Amino acid sequence: MIRDLWLVGIGTGSPSHLTLEGVQALREAAVVLMPHKGDEKDALAALRRRILEASGSLARVAPFDYPERDPALPYAERVALWHDEIARRWKAAHDAVGAPGPVALMVWGDPSLYDSTLRIAARLPSKPRVRVVPGITAIQALTAAHAIPLNTINGEVRITTGRRLRDGGWPEGAETLVVMLDGECSFRGLDPEGLTIWWGAYLGSGDQILCMGPLAEVSDEIARMRAEARERHGWIMDTYLLRRG
Ligand SMILES: C[S@@+](CC[C@H](N)C(=O)[O-])C[C@H]1O[C@@H](n2cnc3c(N)ncnc32)[C@H](O)[C@@H]1O
Repeated sequence: MIRDLWLVGIGTGSPSHLTLEGVQALREAAVVLMPHKGDEKDALAALRRRILEASGSLARVAPFDYPERDPALPYAERVALWHDEIARRWKAAHDAVGAPGPVALMVWGDPSLYDSTLRIAARLPSKPRVRVVPGITAIQALTAAHAIPLNTINGEVRITTGRRLRDGGWPEGAETLVVMLDGECSFRGLDPEGLTIWWGAYLGSGDQILCMGPLAEVSDEIARMRAEARERHGWIMDTYLLRRG
């Protein structure tokens, strides 16, 4: 039975993003749940294993595969059933290794940001005590890579997805917008007048690429860089910040 579940934020692509608290948690965990195949890209799966090894953890590794999502179901139901099934697989993977003690799971970036691990944890029948070890988010990796502040003085920041930007356009009144989970360069659908973009992909890793400038001038360049990098690596994760004025 999983009684203590530790969700350890591992940052966005560099083993050095793991905090000292994260290293300690991986060392003290009895079991580490490890995504095996499914939608984990090979390179990311290898990085997780490198991070675990580098931490000096002696935990038993409990591998699990991600289930498929059922495309025939409405979105909310599809996601809820998928989360239920992942929680079942965590439990089965843990039962299979059968080591008592805290169970850790390495979460990309930080568990609070566009990540469902906490929602899945709440579905475990054993209702474990959940501990979160914070990690560096893609947003922090982006602002650090460009050496820019996230907000203007006294300004607000909105965080959204590529899909929402594409469907809803520029949110009314927004000054700084951070966009994640955008597979389609949704910034191209905006009126670029007065907008500056700071874009980054593979942030924190050795493959990191960056571009910034007035959206009207660099929009095509980013789309080209993105397509070329995606082709070369077989996958891409990118994040961008747009600022008006
Ligand atoms: C499912 S969300 C996970 C976010 C993560 N929990 C965090 O704290 O950053 C995945 C999205 O995060 C962003 N992302 C994650 N890692 C990234 C990286 N190394 N470089 C650029 N963007 C990244 C991308 O927008 C990607 O589509």
